[in-house]
Amino acid sequence: MTNPGLEGVVVADTAISEVDGERGRLVIAGADVEQLAGATSFEGAARRVLAAGGADPTALGDAAFGAARSAAWEIVPRLGDALDHPDGMDALRTALAHLRPPADDTAAAVAAIGAAPVFVAAWSRRRAGAAPVAPDPALGHAADYLRMTLGRPGAAPCVRALDAYLVTVIDHAMCASTFTARVIASTASDLISAVVGAVGALKGPLHGGAPGPVLDMLDAIGAPDHAEPWLLGELAAGRRIMGMGHRVYRVRDPRAAVLEEAVRPLASPRLALARGVERAAAKILHERKPERSLAANVEFYTAVLLDAVGLPREQFSATFAVSRIAGWSAHVLEQRRTGRLIRPASHYIGAMP
Ligand SMILES: CC(C)(COP(=O)(O)OP(=O)(O)OC[C@H]1O[C@@H](n2cnc3c(N)ncnc32)[C@H](O)[C@@H]1OP(=O)(O)O)[C@@H](O)C(=O)NCCC(=O)NCCS
Repeated sequence: MTNPGLEGVVVADTAISEVDGERGRLVIAGADVEQLAGATSFEGAARRVLAAGGADPTALGDAAFGAARSAAWEIVPRLGDALDHPDGMDALRTALAHLRPPADDTAAAVAAIGAAPVFVAAWSRRRAGAAPVAPDPALGHAADYLRMTLGRPGAAPCVRALDAYLVTVIDHAMCASTFTARVIASTASDLISAVVGAVGALKGPLHGGAPGPVLDMLDAIGAPDHAEPWLLGELAAGRRIMGMGHRVYRVRDPRAAVLEEAVRPLASPRLALARGVERAAAKILHERKPERSLAANVEFYTAVLLDAVGLPREQFSATFAVSRIAGWSAHVLEQRRTGRLIRPASHYIGAMP
């Protein structure tokens, strides 16, 4: 029997994260996502997942990530036209491909994690017609990413919210991009190749490409009262409601609640609208598909949070990658230690000679 979505196929034992889709629980290397977001920095969460993947945490001090941002900055002038891509994920994929993979996987992971925010911020500024801003290795990862994007230090509540976001989305079990990274790692290829491939998988709107379109949807709806007719129109046109539904969760994605809480101190005018639209979308989708619970996923409040901290919507998916690159790297390390060449089968339906 063909199983084109591979649902239920267990391809790895992992200590990095666990998703309980029935109960709406996400555990990241031994802690609930609700415990980590707001309580630890992105660097702390990156250490946590990389150590769970098998890295030596003593090589992963905050200073190592700052130094990696500085090292990536040296490469920016040599990125050719990578940063000219109109799409941020294409720019990130092309720019990361310029990294020379160090032989040591942990060193490669730190290099990739440090490079992502530098390349994405440089792309974003070029798009806006502004000069790129050099990293400050003494700052935290979230603060530096925001500063390199905006060209000035972000306000403390914005930095806190962005840091909480980066922690919240750092890993999510065997999602499509992580599987991609693990397949590449399973061939004994290098970590940089694995994360470049994973960026390609994350780009699609069924995975990490949804938050920009969620913001477009909120803009198009404008007021909670307009949500229902607008959403019905989308469904009638055969389109999916962005930010709703999930392959694994049968209840609301726990990360939606974490991000909804993280964005609250920022007093975003879009928060009340988002809550109204989510209510309307959940009701309509429930009426249409009572047998399949379709609730808000992580992307719904990602859109509100990243907008509120001042990032342009074109940068949302690449910002997801700035965080998830740590999870991908952890999975590459773990795959190397415990995995096997991943090579599923296909069912031939073509003509026989
Ligand atoms: C995330 C997503 C890809 C999961 O897809 P999936 O596991 O393939 O979804 P399912 O197969 O369980 O879908 C079951 C049914 O619900 C429908 N459905 C799922 N999500 C929907 C959505 N957001 N809007 C409208 N209908 C949706 C499907 O079309 C399908 O209908 P059908 O049986 O008539 O074909 C899907 O929910 C989606 O496209 N969401 C919108 C994009 C998004 O937010 N992506 C970010 C994910 S974190």
